[in-house]
Amino acid sequence: MNSYGIDLGTSNIKIYDSTDGHTLIEKNMIAVNDSGEMFAYGDSAYEMYEKAPANIHLSYPLCNGVIAELKYEENLIRHFMLDLMKNNVHPSDYYIAIPWDVTEVEKRAFYDLIKAANLKAKKVMIVEKAVADGIGMGIDVLNAQGVLVVNVGFDTTEISILSLGGIVLSRLIKVGGLKFDDNIRNAIRSEYSLIIGGKTAATVKHSLFDLEQENENAIVYGRDIVTGLPVERSIPTDLVDACLKENFTTIIDNVRVILEHTPPELAADIYKHGLYLTGGASQTANLVEQLAAGTGLKVNIATSPITSVVDGIAKVIEDDHYRTVAYVPR
Ligand SMILES: Nc1ncnc2c1ncn2[C@@H]1O[C@H](COP(=O)(O)OP(=O)(O)OP(=O)(O)O)[C@@H](O)[C@H]1O
Ligand SMILES: [Mg+2]
Repeated sequence: MNSYGIDLGTSNIKIYDSTDGHTLIEKNMIAVNDSGEMFAYGDSAYEMYEKAPANIHLSYPLCNGVIAELKYEENLIRHFMLDLMKNNVHPSDYYIAIPWDVTEVEKRAFYDLIKAANLKAKKVMIVEKAVADGIGMGIDVLNAQGVLVVNVGFDTTEISILSLGGIVLSRLIKVGGLKFDDNIRNAIRSEYSLIIGGKTAATVKHSLFDLEQENENAIVYGRDIVTGLPVERSIPTDLVDACLKENFTTIIDNVRVILEHTPPELAADIYKHGLYLTGGASQTANLVEQLAAGTGLKVNIATSPITSVVDGIAKVIEDDHYRTVAYVPR
C-alpha cells in the first residue's frame, strides 16, 4: 500500500510520498476568481500574491494552525495529490500531523478533510505534530522522558513537552514568521514612512543573519507614504533586530510558562538535554541566542527546520518502531 504523510503548515504544505521517498513542499495557497473558481495553487498562486488585480483572490486556507476555509483546503489537497499520483488516484493510506492545543472539532477537521477530498483513502491516521517533530529531529520519543520541542512556524509557534511517545503539555501561540514580517513592515513604515510588501519583509528577515555578518544594511524597495512614489531605502539591521525582539520575548515567555508547569522529573531531563528548536522561522537571526539566554537552556537546532514534522511522519510510515504514535481519532 502506498502511504502519504502530510504536514499542513499555514505557509508551506509538505507531503511525503512513500512510493519514491520524496517530499513535496509547496505554498499552502490558492488563487480564485470572482466566481470562486480556482485557477492557480501552491507556489504558482504565491507568485501572484501581493501582485494580483482585484478580481483575483489569494488565500491561505489555514489560519492559526487550523483549517479556516475548508472547501479551499480540500481543493488544494486534492490537486497536490493528483499531481503526485499523476492524475491516477489509487487507494492509499494517509498520515496527517495535527496540533495538540486546538479543539477536538478542529482536530477532527484534518481527518475529515482527507476523507472528503475524494482520494480513495484506505486508512487515515493522525500523528501529533510535536511528536512527529521530535521523531523528525532524530529523538527516540518513545523512550525519551522529558523533551521540549519549540516549532516556530508561519502563523504559530507550538511549544510542547513530550514524554514516552506522548504529549504532556503543549501550547500553540499566535506568533511566527508572519508576525516577524508584520513587525518589520510596521517599523519601516513608522521610521522611514515607507510601505513595503510582505514578501519584501520576509526577504529582509531571511537575509538578516548574512547582513549582520557583513555589517551591511538591508536594501528595500517600497512606496513612500508622503510622495506616493516607489523608492529604494537602506535600512539598518538594528531597527529590524529591535522589532523582532518583541516577538522573541513572547516566545521565550511562553516557553517559561510551560517549564513552570512541567513535572520536576521531566524538567530535570529537559535541563540535561536542552530544548529542540525547529520550524522555518526558527532560522531568524538571533532567536537561538535569545532563547538560550531567556530560558537558561541549551538550544539544539534542527537540521531541516521546515521539514522536521513531515520527516517524522515519514519515519512513522517507514519504521515499525514508531507505529504506535499514529492513531485513528475517536
Ligand atoms: N532562512 C530563514 N530565516 C528566517 N525565516 C525563515 C527562513 N526560511 C523560511 N523562513 C520562514 O519560515 C516560515 C515558514 O516555516 P514553516 O514551513 O515551518 O511554517 P508552516 O509550517 O507553514 O506554518 P505553521 O507551522 O505556523 O502552520 C515563514 O515565515 C518563512 O518566512
Ligand atoms: Mg508548521
